[in-house]
Amino acid sequence: MKILLFASAYNSMTQRFHVDLTYLGHDVSIELAISDVVMTEAVKLYRPDMIIAPFLRIAIPESIWRKYFCIIIHPGIKGDRGSSSIDWAILNDKSEWGVTALQADAEMDAGDIWSSINFPVNGETKSGLYRGKCAQAAIKAIKQTLENFTNPDYVSESLDYTRPDVKGCWRDSIKQKDRAIDWSSDTTETVMRKIRSADSQPGLLDNLFGKPVYLYGAHAENSLTGVLGEIIAQRYGAICRATVDGAVWITHLKQKSQDTQAFFKLPAALVLGELLTDIPEVPVPLELPVGCQTFREIWYEEKNQVGYLHFSFYNGAMSTDQCMRLRNAYLYARTRDTKVIVLLGGTDFWSNGINLNVIEAACDPASESWRNINAMDDFVYEVLRTDTHFTIAAMQGNAAAGGVMMALAADWVYARSGIVLNPHYKGMGLYGSEYWTYSLPRRLGQDTAEKVTSVCMPMGTQLAKQIHLIDDYFEETHAEFCNRVVQQAEQIAHSENFGNLLQLKNKRRFLDEQYKSLEEYRREELEQMKLNFVSSAYNTARRNFVYKVSPTETPQHLALHR
Ligand code: COA
Repeated sequence: MKILLFASAYNSMTQRFHVDLTYLGHDVSIELAISDVVMTEAVKLYRPDMIIAPFLRIAIPESIWRKYFCIIIHPGIKGDRGSSSIDWAILNDKSEWGVTALQADAEMDAGDIWSSINFPVNGETKSGLYRGKCAQAAIKAIKQTLENFTNPDYVSESLDYTRPDVKGCWRDSIKQKDRAIDWSSDTTETVMRKIRSADSQPGLLDNLFGKPVYLYGAHAENSLTGVLGEIIAQRYGAICRATVDGAVWITHLKQKSQDTQAFFKLPAALVLGELLTDIPEVPVPLELPVGCQTFREIWYEEKNQVGYLHFSFYNGAMSTDQCMRLRNAYLYARTRDTKVIVLLGGTDFWSNGINLNVIEAACDPASESWRNINAMDDFVYEVLRTDTHFTIAAMQGNAAAGGVMMALAADWVYARSGIVLNPHYKGMGLYGSEYWTYSLPRRLGQDTAEKVTSVCMPMGTQLAKQIHLIDDYFEETHAEFCNRVVQQAEQIAHSENFGNLLQLKNKRRFLDEQYKSLEEYRREELEQMKLNFVSSAYNTARRNFVYKVSPTETPQHLALHR
């Protein structure tokens, strides 16, 4: 079928639709819904069999939906309507939410229902839920819709609030006052829920030291206490604020724009600066006692001769300091009497490479970029040269650019079914490092490696496995994925052949090194990166990315119809 996607952004949901529908054999073209004019033009040029809007902030013009079959993906249960669905679901502590495929109609979200899929909600942030369970459900809903569409006997369901399974209702757009925190009475759980409902966009507006700021990245704390509403500790750029029954860590802040000055999201300590001078820095060990709730980005667990290293960095962005801490944690994991090290990333993202926001905020972005990529390479180098253990990269969430290449340093690369990978740097004006010139062709062959890094397209897990970017993908839920990874890791650790296999791996590394050393690959990559870091291509792309400058037209490689 010829499918046209209308989307307000080429975000991970749209990318997932693009990847999965293409993989199913459809011809998919994309038009960014910048105006009615471009949407109308796209339809005329493409003449699609169907239009799908995976993520749309504006209405499809009537002239289009009257003529073409248009499906809107609404991130809500049957009967839910309005533009703040997930925000309300989290704020109202719903334990179940859903995605509904609706036919476009004159009234917003009131068209015929073609499919609706529910899923459990369990403490996710708004974006985490959207990128994770919501995207999974949306793909199922669209597959069901396509089936229904080709079934002549199928009759779609009109919205009928008297039906018992229609549990949603109209909800106005959420306002900051609907979720404002009252620090004098809100419990830790309530504060967490309010922040999560606005994370990652638009953020929860609050006030710190007299500054209006948006809060992001909330984590409950159950051992530190202090004067209600005050900042009582800081850790790795995050701040801890006392509540009536404990405290909450807040990792990121964004200053509210005043007049024309725009701000972007940064680690809290970078925004508050000297205001935190008297606040104690409270570190956290890599391994925590059971029952201890706190904020940690990197942690380590061990079982049955397998070490598990988690690194959950906000938005998958890895700053210089975070890369250095991750390397230290990895070196610790390597000293342990285990046989396999599993790198688990975070649940939301595996990694999106160097931290572009922190770089943008630096006095000298070029030298911060340099420090950051070197710190990233230092970590990747340690994974690549590990000769005492087997390593597994277990990607629970999406990954991009250097984040994907980082995974390839491991001996096995597994992904949770349905995550989206963007194994390229070009869009950011970068050549890239993370030893990709060694790892990528080694897995894909030179031609495919070149193709993948130059076409700048997202990739689903099926294709990633087909071209051997990853070794395998399985399970849709995080829990099931992690269970399978544990099984695989333990199988390797307990293999009778372990010694021989390790010897083989080390021999291969030795031979590769004879051909060309890791130092040489790194030196060549960094030579290019040094030039990139002072180029206007990178500096403009980074600034646009950080300040969220929207594209003014659909990129040519997405709009087949143009
Ligand atoms: N540094 C800082 N922030 C990053 C980031 C990075 N490398 N990668 C992603 N983010 C942030 C985004 O700004 C966004 O922030 P928000 O919380 O304010 O919304 C959030 O992560 C999610 O990214 P978004 O682009 O909205 O999500 P997506 O799922 O639609 O797209 C990517 C994901 C990874 C394709 C896209 O974010 C991207 O291209 N990132 C840059 C990758 C890169 O070039 N890294 C540097 C080279 S190694």
